[in-house]
Amino acid sequence: MLKSVGCGEIRASDAGKDVKLAGWVHRRRDHGGLIFIDLRDRSGIVQVVLNPRESPEAHETATQFRNEWVVQVEGQVGSRPAGTENPDLPTGEIEVNAQAAQVLNPSLTPPFYVNEDSEVEEGLRLKHRYLDLRRQRLQRNIALRHRVVKYIRDFLDAEEFLEIETPVLIKSTPEGARDYLVPSRVHPGTFYALPQSPQQLKQLLMVSGFERYFQIARCFRDEDQRADRQPEFTQLDLEMSFVDEDDVLDLTETLFTGLAETVTPDMGFAKPFPRLTYAESMSRYGTDKPDLRFGLELEELTEVVKDSGFKVFQSVAASGGTIKGLRAPGCADYTRRQLDGLTEFARERGAKGLVTIMLEGEPDSAGRWEADNVKSAVTRHLSGEELNGIIHGLKGETGDLLMIVAGDEKTTNAALSALRNEMGQRLGLADPEKLAFLFVIDFPLVEWNEDSGRWDSTHHPFTSPREEDLGLMETDPGKVRARCYDMVCNGQELASGSIRIHNRELQQKVFQLLDYDADEAQARFGHLLEAFEYGAPPHGGIAPGIDRLVAILAGEESIREVIAFPKNQSAIDVMTDAPAPVSSQQLKDLHLRVTED
Ligand code: AMO
Repeated sequence: MLKSVGCGEIRASDAGKDVKLAGWVHRRRDHGGLIFIDLRDRSGIVQVVLNPRESPEAHETATQFRNEWVVQVEGQVGSRPAGTENPDLPTGEIEVNAQAAQVLNPSLTPPFYVNEDSEVEEGLRLKHRYLDLRRQRLQRNIALRHRVVKYIRDFLDAEEFLEIETPVLIKSTPEGARDYLVPSRVHPGTFYALPQSPQQLKQLLMVSGFERYFQIARCFRDEDQRADRQPEFTQLDLEMSFVDEDDVLDLTETLFTGLAETVTPDMGFAKPFPRLTYAESMSRYGTDKPDLRFGLELEELTEVVKDSGFKVFQSVAASGGTIKGLRAPGCADYTRRQLDGLTEFARERGAKGLVTIMLEGEPDSAGRWEADNVKSAVTRHLSGEELNGIIHGLKGETGDLLMIVAGDEKTTNAALSALRNEMGQRLGLADPEKLAFLFVIDFPLVEWNEDSGRWDSTHHPFTSPREEDLGLMETDPGKVRARCYDMVCNGQELASGSIRIHNRELQQKVFQLLDYDADEAQARFGHLLEAFEYGAPPHGGIAPGIDRLVAILAGEESIREVIAFPKNQSAIDVMTDAPAPVSSQQLKDLHLRVTED
């Protein structure tokens, strides 16, 4: 080895030892006489001192050193002179007095500072990702990712799961996104699809009798990129036979509890994880992925204001819409501009407008509010009963800003839940040091798609309906509840799963409901339907997204910060410049022709 010990591993107890170090020049200070090098490798940083009188040759060599050069140093560990210790560094009590030094490889001047976590434009970071990855933040994130995956593997191994690889060149499995396709050279005009998830394959492994399967699986989806989405990402994919919902959720909860306690012991979280039905989550938070690090629940006001003199409330209530609101504690002093900002925020999310009431004054001793004590554009249209009904309904207190949206249920919920998250951030309630896990259960099986005029799976077509709702499949499909669940953390969907259909007839019925014609279903899923006829066990599973999980544990906003080589927002790998054109011969071999449009 070119080194005998890691730079960051040396301690005061090593004083007097001879060491051989190799790493990168993190910083170099030339004090005329002495040269100080902060030498960095994966384990950390150590101070190396080059003294021209003691080791003139090594000192001479070190005069050339520049940031990010790769160098080797041999020397003796010594205590730092009193008063020069650095309590911020684990190696801060010692330094290495170099007797020999050599350059292993010089470096160009990096396009950004590697030795500090300063803001750098993301395009530049991604172009030189190998340098970006040298920085402390990403070194830490990638190491955290390793520990997360290792914990998962060890846990599932102890629970008797087998890790089984499934192919990447497959036939398409619908998960709601577009497929990435791979043309076949050997079979002109045909294509493999890259898996959006190993969904069908893991179900087939249950038919094969493995009973407990998992995989750290790469998934590919051609969809719009966001902070929490990448075209290729990683799932912990798992599946179990002979289980019901609680078995899968209990196992997942035990896994995530142990994982968080082991890997990020300083992040607090509530356990057991709350389990909310979809209906309850929508009603209380306006979303199926609520951030439970804080309260600020939405409250229903439709009954209170349905006969209001305020025409908007009245007409929305009369047309079957909903009126809901939310309190923002301590925001009664918001300026006109800030309120306009919030209204615009709600409008961008589909709301027609935002009614605000600022509780500037005090209620009387009986807790009743007078219009004079509040500031709002709508009070003059509201009766005293209505005003008090709203304030009490929203649990308003002096100093609060009340925000109310009226409209159809979907947009009202969407706008208010976005406002809730926004206020949670602004008020510092969404503590990045905290985790708030929960499960959302009892999703509807299907949702009506206005654009295509048909039912879409809420989760995916392999999800089992609840037995007691089967009768509704023909009469009122939107009311059928599915045996599926999501795990949510800090307002993000971390995992989805379900108990699956394991019976051909029911699977065909669901395909019919989704409007797949029988031939199409046979062509796409014949293998699965057939497998169900050979003794398929009842089974179910779940798939947590590893990238989202690690990003939350690392306190990162974007999953790009926890992926070694991510694509940018336009799905481009700017480092290797992919996707890229290929030669005309390659296209010819693949029987492809590129058209202009
Ligand atoms: P689903 O499609 O909900 O379920 O995906 C499961 C989890 O994968 C993560 N995820 C993503 N992460 C990063 N970028 C993406 N583009 C992306 N898409 C999804 C999320 C999500 O919760 N086969 C089913 C699971 C099952 O039923 O067992 C599935 O894939 O964290």
